[in-house]
Amino acid sequence: MKIVAIANQKGGVGKTTTAVNLGSALAELGHRILLIDLDPQANATSSFGLQGVEETSLYEPLIGGASVTEKIFPTRRDHLFIIPADLDLAGVEVEIARMPNHLTRLAETLKPLQSDETFDFVLLDCPPSLGILMTNALAAADELLTPIQCEYFALEGLVKIVRLVEQVRDSGANKRLELAGIVMTMFDGRTNLSEQVVAEVREHFGERVYETVIPRSVRLSEAPSFGKSILEYAPNGAAANAYRALAREFMQRHAPPATLPDSSHTPASENLET
Ligand SMILES: Nc1ncnc2c1ncn2[C@@H]1O[C@H](COP(=O)(O)OP(=O)(O)O)[C@@H](O)[C@H]1O
Ligand SMILES: [Mg+2]
Repeated sequence: MKIVAIANQKGGVGKTTTAVNLGSALAELGHRILLIDLDPQANATSSFGLQGVEETSLYEPLIGGASVTEKIFPTRRDHLFIIPADLDLAGVEVEIARMPNHLTRLAETLKPLQSDETFDFVLLDCPPSLGILMTNALAAADELLTPIQCEYFALEGLVKIVRLVEQVRDSGANKRLELAGIVMTMFDGRTNLSEQVVAEVREHFGERVYETVIPRSVRLSEAPSFGKSILEYAPNGAAANAYRALAREFMQRHAPPATLPDSSHTPASENLET
């Protein structure tokens, strides 16, 4: 099981959209996914048509009042489970701050999942701040996946994240943390700006940037209000295909080398698509 923090201290860059739709696309490929909504705003939760009902979030497990396994709920999609967010989560930072192990509370909380191997990937949808929840997510994660909007100042934002990763490593809270992936979102093919931003980010971050770029799509912003992922809402559109391609690329990056020859049943054309 790998824990992937989907984080960027900036809001509105596509973290939640990527958590929900990458998670859905990975589940569609048959991987067992647990999505944890760590943002008290509960956007990922409502994207599944769920409401932040009291006592359904990670709040209690984080303060030691319940096990993480009690808070896992199925979604309508096979292989995809969620720990929703609720309003309690907004107060958890204050409580964690008082605890002695305040950087590693989330890592401790998720330990039971490491041992039971029910999930292949845990995706953490982080709040847009440098607060205790996000720092805990970075301390618990095997890797960081950062969505970046194709806009001015994309690189500046990334520089801050790289610094944050270094801080978490230096603090000793998580020595293995890496900024493993950057996903460019809201790409607008009609503007030169999008092209320029992608080129610039690739120049600085090389292979860490996913080949797959997520296009700007009204469908993507509409889907959550129907409680659907893009794979259900507009299954054959460009945005759904982009998230499917992202999931395949994600798996290529995470497949253990020994299983690679096994992918011979995948048509060659599908591999080229990404
Ligand atoms: N590729 C996209 N095209 C169009 N709208 C998008 C796209 N990705 C996200 N959005 C919309 O932009 C807003 C912010 O996205 P969201 O994923 O919630 O960002 P974050 O979680 O980083 O705050 C939401 O309204 C979302 O529906
Ligand atoms: Mg969000």
